[in-house]
Amino acid sequence: MSDAFHAGEHDARMQEAQGEKSEPMVVIEQLVKRFGKLEAIRALTMTINAGETFGLIGPNGSGKTTLIRMLVGLTHPTSGTIRILGERVPSAQVAPLLGYMTQASALYLDLTARENMAFFCNIYGLRGPMQRQRIAEMLERVDLADRANDVVGTFSGGMKQRLSLACALVHQPRLALLDEPTVGVDPELRRTFWNYFAQLNREGVTIIVSTHHLDEATRCTRLGLLRFGNLLALDTPQALLQRSAKSDMEEAFLYFAHQEVLA
Ligand SMILES: Nc1ncnc2c1ncn2[C@@H]1O[C@H](COP(=O)(O)OP(=O)(O)O)[C@@H](O)[C@H]1O
Ligand SMILES: [Mg+2]
Repeated sequence: MSDAFHAGEHDARMQEAQGEKSEPMVVIEQLVKRFGKLEAIRALTMTINAGETFGLIGPNGSGKTTLIRMLVGLTHPTSGTIRILGERVPSAQVAPLLGYMTQASALYLDLTARENMAFFCNIYGLRGPMQRQRIAEMLERVDLADRANDVVGTFSGGMKQRLSLACALVHQPRLALLDEPTVGVDPELRRTFWNYFAQLNREGVTIIVSTHHLDEATRCTRLGLLRFGNLLALDTPQALLQRSAKSDMEEAFLYFAHQEVLA
């Protein structure tokens, strides 16, 4: 096991402060995923550093979910490799360090918010007083403490989305993989969600978040622009705007898509 597993939560940030290059959280090399004739991910190579809020940006069908499912270890690559903290995925050592919020809600509608969270805690082996404490903390954080004992079937879409996030983070993962967490969420709650992510990131959690809302992109440290399984560009939001000489990310995305067609 690499030393990275024992590193403190704030290492990446401290290294950054000291001007050192932070350790890679995820290293992806020549990753390919085929479904029959369809190449959902095409020869993808990229590195995501510890401490980043990395955005996977692309329209529907660009391969965001497929990539995240491979990172979590739920789908096997056709070829190529993924390493998380130096360990080849899927890995029993890495799995407990990951928090995964699926695009489709994974909640039980006939259980209460607290019971749903307890279910996730049990999967991760979080029990007893520690479990109660973490559930209380997370429900407070997503502003659902007063609804803890209500069945989830009575919740609005936004409340379910907040509870899903709380469930994905209850075991304090080092890497949070959030698949379109703000899809179908109203603009105000979207802002709240991004404030949660910023807070989480300050606490030392590396985040990989997919979205097709290009206005959210500016809140990421770096972006991978995906289309039809191809990585069109990878850079900081500012650099992508500069490189494309555009003033908004939507225009920049179209620019890089067009460049690829020409190439
Ligand atoms: N299990 C599957 N079987 C066949 N095709 C799939 C499967 N999962 C995804 N795809 C296809 O792979 C492509 C990428 O899908 P996906 O990763 O869901 O994209 P995104 O999350 O960016 O919308 C799409 O063309 C989709 O239809
Ligand atoms: Mg998807």
